[in-house]
Amino acid sequence: MVRSRPYVILSAAISLDGKIATKTGDSRLSSREDLVRVHKLRSNVDAVLIGKHTMIIDNPYLTVRYVKGKNPVRIILDSNGYIKSNSKIIQTCRKIPTIIAVSEKISEKNISRLQRYGLEVIKCGHKNINVKKLLYILKKKNIKKLLVEGGGTTNWSFFKDGLVDEIIVTLTPFILGGKNAISLIEGDGFGKISKSCSLKLKNIHRLKNELVLRYTV
Ligand SMILES: NC(=O)c1ccc[n+]([C@@H]2O[C@H](COP(=O)([O-])OP(=O)(O)OC[C@H]3O[C@@H](n4cnc5c(N)ncnc54)[C@H](OP(=O)(O)O)[C@@H]3O)[C@@H](O)[C@H]2O)c1
Repeated sequence: MVRSRPYVILSAAISLDGKIATKTGDSRLSSREDLVRVHKLRSNVDAVLIGKHTMIIDNPYLTVRYVKGKNPVRIILDSNGYIKSNSKIIQTCRKIPTIIAVSEKISEKNISRLQRYGLEVIKCGHKNINVKKLLYILKKKNIKKLLVEGGGTTNWSFFKDGLVDEIIVTLTPFILGGKNAISLIEGDGFGKISKSCSLKLKNIHRLKNELVLRYTV
């Protein structure tokens, strides 16, 4: 069967209580061994995607550094295209192909600004980014495997429409607590367990003090 969208893997490091960051946004949960695993995973996908808040708070490169391998295309969900010129993503986007997904809300001035930096801009969706449509466009660009690396709001926007094929979570030895700490999946959430999807546990791998769990949807 030929898919009309990429195969989507959602990946995160979570605390024992299911959080991906503390209430202040600290998300450095992974050990070095786990980071090596994540970078290996990145080198095996065509693109890696994050939401705007993760870009602002973590200011990541989203590259492959802990292992040898190719960098995936980087994709940021940023409806208004507010990405700052001093972010690491912008600083490196002439070397590493980077796409900013925006919505109809963005101004023409901001589109020109992003294009001047060397970013590719994909406009899809009215208020928010229409993720289903975005995946369809990415597939046309030959992106067959996509890694979604959060945060929780972004994870929900993929999950709620049944757009995730595989989940890889590293269970880390921390308890973060806090009702304002970000969970693996944010958004409205499902009202009934029957409305959620059923996951199949495919693999468990122990990394010293962490467990890497792989599920298919
Ligand atoms: N432990 C881990 O593995 C891990 C991984 C990643 C992130 N994190 C943490 O997660 C936190 C951020 O998570 P978050 O939930 O606040 O934010 P997020 O998912 O990173 O970003 C959400 C923002 O992305 C933009 N967006 C545009 N279209 C969207 C769409 N269709 N669906 C979802 N978002 C869309 C929205 O802003 P606009 O409307 O303005 O565009 C939205 O508010 C950070 O603290 C980060 O450190 C942890």
